[in-house]
Amino acid sequence: MQFNEQEDLYFNFAFTDDGSVGLYNKDVGDVYHSVFGAREEAEDKFISPLNFRNNFFKQPNINVLDICFGIGYNTKALLKRILQEKYQGNLHVDILEYDKNLVTISPFIVDGYFKKYPEISYILATNLIDSIYENKSSLFSIINNYKNFKYIEPFYKSLMKKYHYLGYSYNPCKQNKSFLHNIYYHCISQRNKKLSKGLKIKNFSLNTYFDDARNSIKQLNKLYGIIFLDAFTPSKLPTLWTLEFFNELYRLISDNGVLVTYSNSAAVRHAMLDAGFFVGKLFDKNNRHCGTVASKNCSLIKHPLDDYDLGLINTRAGIYFRDKNLDLTAEEIIENYNNERNNSLLESSSQYIKRYKMEKV
Ligand SMILES: C[S@@+](CC[C@H](N)C(=O)[O-])C[C@H]1O[C@@H](n2cnc3c(N)ncnc32)[C@H](O)[C@@H]1O
Repeated sequence: MQFNEQEDLYFNFAFTDDGSVGLYNKDVGDVYHSVFGAREEAEDKFISPLNFRNNFFKQPNINVLDICFGIGYNTKALLKRILQEKYQGNLHVDILEYDKNLVTISPFIVDGYFKKYPEISYILATNLIDSIYENKSSLFSIINNYKNFKYIEPFYKSLMKKYHYLGYSYNPCKQNKSFLHNIYYHCISQRNKKLSKGLKIKNFSLNTYFDDARNSIKQLNKLYGIIFLDAFTPSKLPTLWTLEFFNELYRLISDNGVLVTYSNSAAVRHAMLDAGFFVGKLFDKNNRHCGTVASKNCSLIKHPLDDYDLGLINTRAGIYFRDKNLDLTAEEIIENYNNERNNSLLESSSQYIKRYKMEKV
């Protein structure tokens, strides 16, 4: 993938291999999405594990916690699945993400869903309309930058332009209504006439928490059937991979809920186990390792950790990050972690892997 360098933005847009837009964060030095496909990554890693639970889409209410929403691929992939399943219940999503620009731009980017499932961006735009309006200056400066043009869905580009230049004759409420009406009229209504069933948009709700997820999580007290954890790579930004953060997720997951993440790290799995979860591995459609699933219910773990994984957890590679009061900086967390590792008498992961292979021969 080729990144589009921009001096003024802390992130760059880029097309990933499946044609969907991905991002690179210059400050963290990490990608937000797989270069092989932002959309496919979300579907493979975050949605397919939900198959493990029978009748999942028969429940009347589904609560989702999308941690690190970014430009929303995990929630979008879930919405696609919900539309395909013709889910008739209530879906509520709580979004924890400190970057308002990303969340508010999410309905409008080229994500590969718009042609077949315009409902997805409409549902998101409808539920994010107040934040979109509040953030409009920043949003327009991103969208109207010629370098970003190709990353924005053409229909939205022209609609945004119209509202940016002409829309100020309305009051905000009227403007928002008319903006959403345009989307509905052009993209959804024709399709809906043909569909007898489908997501009832009024049954979808969404809350946004634009803050450090460690602060937001303390305010939450509902139980979630699905938790997506899609933070930056643990070694680059450890704040959302600590034992104490997993303790909070354990508090918030329902008895039959699943927590899914792309990370295969032994330390992350160890922290999940110590927080009380049953933990298993995820495989993508090509049977490659693609992440970790955790639950309070062991029957929802299709591929539990095997002897090799459990052994690895008991090496230095299994030492996890700590953040007692969920308030340390990333640097402090890493420093404490390095101290613990350097003073540890545990076997190194390379020694363990060598020994494991020898014993297996
Ligand atoms: C790997 S990206 C997630 C990509 C995202 N799921 C998507 O579909 O676009 C990580 C995201 O975590 C957010 N983030 C990182 N640390 C955070 C924190 N402490 N609290 C809230 N959001 C955070 C970043 O802004 C970024 O959008």
